Amino acid sequence: LVNPEVEMAVKGFILDQEKMAEVVERMTKEMKMGLAKDTHPRAVIKCFVTYVQDLPTGKERGKYLALDLGGSNFRVLLVTLNSDSDVETISKSFEFPKSLMSGSGKALFDFLAECLSEFCIENGVQDETLPLGFTFSFPCQQQGLSKGILVAWTKGFSCEGVVGKNVVTLLQEAIDRRGDVKINTVAILNDTVGTLMSCAHSHKNCRIGLIVGTGSNACYVEKTVNAECFEGYQTSPKPSMIINCEWGAFGDNGVLEFVRTSYDKVVDRITPNPGRQTFEKCISGMYMGELVRLVVIEMINKDVMFHGDKSQKIQKAWSFNSSYISDIESDPPGEYRSCNKVLNELGIIGSQESDKESLKLICEAVSSRSAKLCACGLVTIINKMNINEVVIGIDGSVYRFHPKYHEMLQFHMRKLLKPGVKFELVVSEDGSGKGAALVAATAVQNKPKI
Ligand code: BG6
Ligand code: GLC
Repeated sequence: LVNPEVEMAVKGFILDQEKMAEVVERMTKEMKMGLAKDTHPRAVIKCFVTYVQDLPTGKERGKYLALDLGGSNFRVLLVTLNSDSDVETISKSFEFPKSLMSGSGKALFDFLAECLSEFCIENGVQDETLPLGFTFSFPCQQQGLSKGILVAWTKGFSCEGVVGKNVVTLLQEAIDRRGDVKINTVAILNDTVGTLMSCAHSHKNCRIGLIVGTGSNACYVEKTVNAECFEGYQTSPKPSMIINCEWGAFGDNGVLEFVRTSYDKVVDRITPNPGRQTFEKCISGMYMGELVRLVVIEMINKDVMFHGDKSQKIQKAWSFNSSYISDIESDPPGEYRSCNKVLNELGIIGSQESDKESLKLICEAVSSRSAKLCACGLVTIINKMNINEVVIGIDGSVYRFHPKYHEMLQFHMRKLLKPGVKFELVVSEDGSGKGAALVAATAVQNKPKI
């Protein structure tokens, strides 16, 4: 049923075993460069130290605020760790005005402080000085648990005056400018770290945190002696350090050209950060829908799909949400209930069964390349850790909602890993709530008492 022109168009997305092995090999090299002090400055996979050196013990207690910026929802949370099995969370998602993504940094942080204040007042904690864990899911060069310098914006953000600054100071200044709540930002963390910590709270073997959502990235537990960019890497009494790989930037030096298609290059050109986040742009939810849309548009223009009808909503850039891919691939073979709904939303009427089969094939091509590349990334990390058993905590809308992502990831990891290496992929609940609170708890507990 699928038009041969469509089959030809998606060929570039196919990654065979040989290419996947090549991705692992190249990624291994880039990760080593990120970790080593002398090559770190020019490395593309930065492998940032996070200053999180303790996994949860189950003994963390207390009440914490958390802020979550960088995923599909902007949220404020209040987390109470009563015991290892009793964690209370109150959270509120706020509508995040799109204009803030490219406005001034001051406007962004004033908005965050306003939401925090509203949330604290609503929950009657405005007079308590609560510690806050800030999940800020962008590449940061950390200089301590509560100091993170933004290195570059990713995922469509481009606010002025933030790159090169300590985002904790920017947040704290915005809170202080308001003066109506007392909050102490004790930790800044990446969403991958929150994901790992939250999963490690219930799975003692969890050592890797993965996000496949708006963006994609992973972190893992490294030996402190290997974290050369940490000033105390040889003297620290703590044996471990969580490393935020920032793997999204893999390929920014050209080493991934052999997996990229002409569609990837078009997507890259219309983002605010062309030439950056090459790996992420092949994998994550922010870009998958646009990749599918570009193939479809080419097929419409060639008159091989949807009767060559150029009048629909799908002509507009970014109009094909990545969630449509999950919807379309959820239909059982030969059925098109979700697909019809998507087509309806896009204003496409009178499509034929062959159009729907073609659309499904395009979605599968994009999502399976995404899962294969993620599998390559995880295998690179597991090989680097040189362990035989590991639990991987995962979050993000693509992993959660795509009907086959989990299976695909597992299948390709098994094919790439050395025989005998066991792993488990576990959905991590509430990384930016429980995970952030656990990191904040470490910060509070490790503070020297004077
Ligand atoms: C959420 C986490 O569940 O997943 C966030 O709480 C994280 O911290 C997010 O950034 C990633 O997924 P998405 O799909 O929202 O980008
Ligand atoms: C982007 C960010 C990274 C984050 C990931 C997932 O890659 O740079 O910090 O972890 O998205 O949200």
